[in-house]
Amino acid sequence: MNKENPIGIFDSGVGGTSIFKEIHKLLPQENIIYLADSKNAPYGYKTKQEIIDLCFKNTDLLLKKGCKIIVVACNTATTNAIQEIRSNYNFPIIGIEPAIKPAALHSQKKVIGILATKGTLSSELFLETADLFTKGIEVIEVIGSGLVEAIEAGKQNEESTRKNLESLLKPMLEKGIDQLVLGCSHYPYLIPQLKKILPKEVCIIDSGEAVAKQTKTVLKSLNLLSELPPKAPVFFSNTSTKVLEQLLENNSKKRFTINYLDF
Ligand code: DGL
Repeated sequence: MNKENPIGIFDSGVGGTSIFKEIHKLLPQENIIYLADSKNAPYGYKTKQEIIDLCFKNTDLLLKKGCKIIVVACNTATTNAIQEIRSNYNFPIIGIEPAIKPAALHSQKKVIGILATKGTLSSELFLETADLFTKGIEVIEVIGSGLVEAIEAGKQNEESTRKNLESLLKPMLEKGIDQLVLGCSHYPYLIPQLKKILPKEVCIIDSGEAVAKQTKTVLKSLNLLSELPPKAPVFFSNTSTKVLEQLLENNSKKRFTINYLDF
């Protein structure tokens, strides 16, 4: 495998760009290809087998494009399919999971909230991790109904989304959480709204930076860190590219290539 081959990232849609940004910030010399499978979003209401099949489709495409490592920038895909992807492909695969451990460790009140998709919260991997790290901690889990759909539609800053968030967070606020785990890669785009709703002492935790660090560690251990100046990151979406463009433009002055691709 060549060091200059790209890092491949996929998500059920545009949300994984929050992970892309962390990877791009930490590893600016890397070529990156991103797949937004928005046509099939949300993954969170699909069966485990449907999620596995979608992950295989996305992984096959990234491998065809010559990627040297795959980042599954989707908690739902990781918690439901990472074992199957790793055993099907003899290839470096990085996943993302809700950051339960740091939330439990940092919680003073011993009450934490986890906002994630139905698929993530009901997965075996999530249940095992939660069991391992939350002894003596009260965990308030809430399915983020409608949130992925709102972000896919570019409505993260709208009033309707704020209202939905307020009602989703109510049980967490009633219990007095001091840590909120964002267990979905779409949700970092809700941070401006969340900050308006949550009391100041509630710490919002997402896993993006940890995933970027893990990607660097694995590439380094395989001697696959790029040494040449990169090309512009390339994005493929299988629906309209409008929201993808907005999310990337809002946060960076860098140039990207964004294409429609039927995959
Ligand atoms: N970004 C995906 C995640 O992290 C969204 C899941 C979905 O498509 O429902 O879980």
